[in-house]
Amino acid sequence: MTEPAQYKILAIDTSCDETSVAISNRELILANIISSQIELHKQWGGVVPTIAERAHREKILPIVTMALKRAKLSLNEIDYFAVTVGPGLSIALAVGIETAKQLAIQQGKPLIAVNHMVGHVYANFAKNKVGHSSADKFVFPALALLVSGGHTEIVLIRSENDWEIIGQTLDDALGEAYDKVARILNLGYPGGPIVARFAKFGNPLAFDLPVPMLNSGDLNFSFSGLKTAVLHVVRELNKSTNQAIGPQQTYDLCATFQRVAIKSVIIKLSKAVTNYNVKQVLLGGGVVANTQLRQEIRRALPKNVTLHYPNLKKLCTDNAAMIAVAAYHQAQRNEFIDPNIIDRQPNLSIKSH
Ligand code: KG4
Ligand code: ZN
Repeated sequence: MTEPAQYKILAIDTSCDETSVAISNRELILANIISSQIELHKQWGGVVPTIAERAHREKILPIVTMALKRAKLSLNEIDYFAVTVGPGLSIALAVGIETAKQLAIQQGKPLIAVNHMVGHVYANFAKNKVGHSSADKFVFPALALLVSGGHTEIVLIRSENDWEIIGQTLDDALGEAYDKVARILNLGYPGGPIVARFAKFGNPLAFDLPVPMLNSGDLNFSFSGLKTAVLHVVRELNKSTNQAIGPQQTYDLCATFQRVAIKSVIIKLSKAVTNYNVKQVLLGGGVVANTQLRQEIRRALPKNVTLHYPNLKKLCTDNAAMIAVAAYHQAQRNEFIDPNIIDRQPNLSIKSH
């Protein structure tokens, strides 16, 4: 296959509560604009799909223009258009898909459909201005640990197009558990970053919380029981003192929850690394912004296993740069989609990749 000299890609992600447009040349990120809707959803304690859809509609075209300006390119210089088709909120996904489809048709350029979770893995290959990325290439078989607000998965990557989920959560995702614990403790939304910050001031051994799925014998996770255990502790403490728990107890609960949740992740990840004789682990998803998680995973993995995580926090949480990089790899394999049949796949799994 003769490659075009340029691989300029405009990618869109509107899968949840971030409207994002990125422009890349191969794996080099020229622009990665992310407009967060957190302020709109905060008062509801979670993402409201109809509010998300409206905000995506208002923002998407101005953000496309902003991304082109940042990348110093015009629309007709783009070689490929790419968009997240799932998993995500159906009516939110539709906004990005509609926009990318129209741009591809109008410019007469190929369209690429990207799985959001696959994008989280490729975030590790995104290169910054000076050409640095967290990972240069896969070392097969590789493992990806994907931890976000909607997913907790261990993925075995045998080759670029042979991916299999070998472990996943049976109930809440890890990010969801952080968000729910934050809600129990009245810390606001999204809870992950707040719980992580408060955990720094607490004693991680202050309470006796069970490590979930310790003896399950598989690679799956469960975080809903842990969240309920936190709720019970809060109720007991409130009852015994007849008042709301104080700051130190809040810090201690955050620290203990985080220690137990991370321990559960590490037990399953280590088991998967051994079972499949893996030499490379890639992290992806919003919870990877958590430094404690990264550090403890590094400490737990054998020295001969390389660990990668996106080199910027904004590449861990939702963004379109990761979609652009995944799309570049798909373009090399000629994986394009007919704009007339592209559709949202809210429950898309990695198996379909
Ligand atoms: O990947 P992402 O941006 O969106 C989804 O695709 O879900 O992940 C968002 C999740 C939220 O649950 C948020 O609370 C969590 O990632 N998160 C964190 C941290 N930063 C974001 N969780 C723990 N520690 C953090 N520092
Ligand atoms: Zn995500």
